[in-house]
Amino acid sequence: MRTVFVSGKYVEETEAQVSVFDRGFLFADAVYEVTSVLDGKLVDFGGHARRLARSLKALDMKCDMEPAALLEMHRELVARNNVEEGLVYLQVTRGAADRDFAFPAPETSSTIVAFTQEKPLVNAEQAKTGIKIATLDDLRWGLCDIKTVQLLYPSLAKMEARKKGADDAWLLRDGMVTEGTSNNAYIVTQDGVIVTRDLSHAILHGITRKAVLHCAHVLDLKVEERPFSVAEAFEASEAFITAAAAFVTPVVEIDGRTVGRGSPGPVTQKLREIYIAESQKAAI
Ligand code: PDD
Repeated sequence: MRTVFVSGKYVEETEAQVSVFDRGFLFADAVYEVTSVLDGKLVDFGGHARRLARSLKALDMKCDMEPAALLEMHRELVARNNVEEGLVYLQVTRGAADRDFAFPAPETSSTIVAFTQEKPLVNAEQAKTGIKIATLDDLRWGLCDIKTVQLLYPSLAKMEARKKGADDAWLLRDGMVTEGTSNNAYIVTQDGVIVTRDLSHAILHGITRKAVLHCAHVLDLKVEERPFSVAEAFEASEAFITAAAAFVTPVVEIDGRTVGRGSPGPVTQKLREIYIAESQKAAI
């Protein structure tokens, strides 16, 4: 039985309660973060806390806990649940109020929920095999840089990809890849250049993305932050995704076509290795 956190209290998961009037439930009026746990420690909590603050500001929403208190709570949850490897999910909502499209009074308390999930990350099966991608239209809203809990379309896209025999979807706007359903997308060209979509409202500004691009810089690899097409992805020597819960995961097939040699590529594997080593060192 897990211990979860609900607005100031640590409770057993079966005892946790959120109001039916909560705006997270009624309007998806909520933001979230997923922080990975390695060796019982949090990976890049600072980055996640900063992005949370950015999401909150973009939605004119408050969080009734300061970053220091959120950090302490994350650590407490990891300790209480003995998590060695996995993640902490954090959600902040605008709170509970009578259903109304207009925001409730500013003094309404935010709802803060967090829980842990154990998951093998370093020795994840998909890191060894690589994953298959199907491309689909990006039918999400226009502000994908805000990490809201409106995840229905990404969820539908993931299921559609599965129907097509793939593991996940890459989403397309005007024929160009934005990102994966819950990860950022990359290709490595035949010349060894890493290409990933530039930062804008079209993608989530991944915390792993930032760290992995830094690793690429340290390794002296060339990076181009720009949109790329599916046609360009078909010609790539490697492809991969990044996310807190996936680190760097190789992509070996796109729309039924083999990427490179059809197995995890050397640039992808090197980036994964370095990202994990650096994360283990810096985790708190
Ligand atoms: N997803 N793009 C999207 C649409 C995402 O949902 C995520 C994260 C990422 C990668 O961001 P980061 O590197 O900060 O995890 C990119 C999380 C893990 C999730 O929803 O479970």
